[in-house]
Amino acid sequence: MSKKNCKFNIKFVIISYNKEKNMIKKNIIKNNLTSYKVKDLKGIIEPPSDKSISHRALLFSSLAVGKSKISNLLNSEDVLNMVKALKILGIKILKKNNEYYVIGSGLTGFKTPNKNIDCGNSGTLARILMGALGGSEIIATLTGDSSLRTRPMGRVTKPLKKMGINFSSSNELLPLIVQGSDDLLPIKYNSPVSSAQVKTSILLAGLNAKGTTEIIEPFSSRDHTENLLKYFGANIKYNTKNSGKNRILITGGKSLNSRIISIPGDISSAAFNIVAAIIIPGSNIIIKNVGTNYFRKGILEALEMMGAKIKLKNKDINNYDEPIADIHVKYSKLKGINLNSSFSARMIDEYPILAIAAAVANGKSVFRGLSELRYKESDRFNGIIDGLISCGIKVEAINDDIIIFGSNAQVNGGVTINCKYDHRIAMSFLILGAVSKKPIKVIGCKSISTSYPNFISEVNSIGMNISESVNI
Ligand code: S3P
Repeated sequence: MSKKNCKFNIKFVIISYNKEKNMIKKNIIKNNLTSYKVKDLKGIIEPPSDKSISHRALLFSSLAVGKSKISNLLNSEDVLNMVKALKILGIKILKKNNEYYVIGSGLTGFKTPNKNIDCGNSGTLARILMGALGGSEIIATLTGDSSLRTRPMGRVTKPLKKMGINFSSSNELLPLIVQGSDDLLPIKYNSPVSSAQVKTSILLAGLNAKGTTEIIEPFSSRDHTENLLKYFGANIKYNTKNSGKNRILITGGKSLNSRIISIPGDISSAAFNIVAAIIIPGSNIIIKNVGTNYFRKGILEALEMMGAKIKLKNKDINNYDEPIADIHVKYSKLKGINLNSSFSARMIDEYPILAIAAAVANGKSVFRGLSELRYKESDRFNGIIDGLISCGIKVEAINDDIIIFGSNAQVNGGVTINCKYDHRIAMSFLILGAVSKKPIKVIGCKSISTSYPNFISEVNSIGMNISESVNI
């Protein structure tokens, strides 16, 4: 190599190294952040890829036969923990030019791991993996962080035990030992909760059961599993056309085919940008390439009922039946709303940010039937109430309902909120800081990297002012 070429190569390597280092640095979220009042938000952004679909794309590809290719996988902590878990279970996963290649080992191909599987903060990872492991004759220990170790696993282990999977745990909490079997039985399960995690776990075990497994949900939860399993070639029947009772049938024994999967943007992450633009006067933003599945877009309907100006453009449907669109949002004057419990299955993760919109709105909002919020990454039912009250908003709780008395854009702020390592509580109160009289400081913001590692740089790029906390 000539001297000149060599110099050039070294320079190139240094530039790429620095670029990479800066990208990583950009995504390191400080734990204590403060959000200050801003004027308006303007610009075009792309939200991170969908977390639910990313988890499923990886797991279903590992159960298929052959090499699947996944593009736009979400590079967040929760999803990278799924990658690690599958590798520990013997699945080969390669990353090349931002695309993931998963070499599936078939429905019963997991290997007994030689260490514990750490699911980190992710309930989805822990719960859906249990059903998927059930058909392989292996023993594995699943654990997680201090939040995940308090979250109920009985809702999944109870039906899976009936199918023939063995579990050993204390009080149905992690850490938990799973023992799979090559002799799974189909069940008919009337689920007491509308939960996509429970549904998915049973359906994945059903892939290996000898016969047809039937699941009935009180209200249909997100149907990404059904759409993707159909795409992978499973023997599945479902008819999720509206938010009523939902019945799914899956017949075991049919192997899955490897697939090419592209992941759309996450509407649950986009919801923070959407509400920010709606409540900050003068804002006008476009959020591109967002998944707008009927069972995820309850938040858009709720905000529209409150008076929000939201438009979906460039609508499309991808090759596994997931609708996608660009979302155009403008500042809007909001009024309170009354949401009944049937709504909750279609926007369960969006109540923290909807509560922020209700706090800024004019008039009373009532959100009914929110018991499930107590079992999320933190107790969101109380996290929403305590956080809003500390910001000067009048809030009441009656049984499982939350009543928020809107301040008509008069939020005091000037407080410190501990989000209890809950990403969605952290992002919600950072958004509220942008319209509060005094800044809002949030402790526990590192949790944001579980779902939206670029959140701070992205929202600051369109006009938010969030920075590392100094004392306020
Ligand atoms: C998820 C389902 C929901 C949701 C979670 C992701 C999924 O949980 O809250 O963030 O990907 O299946 P539940 O199934 O407990 O409702």
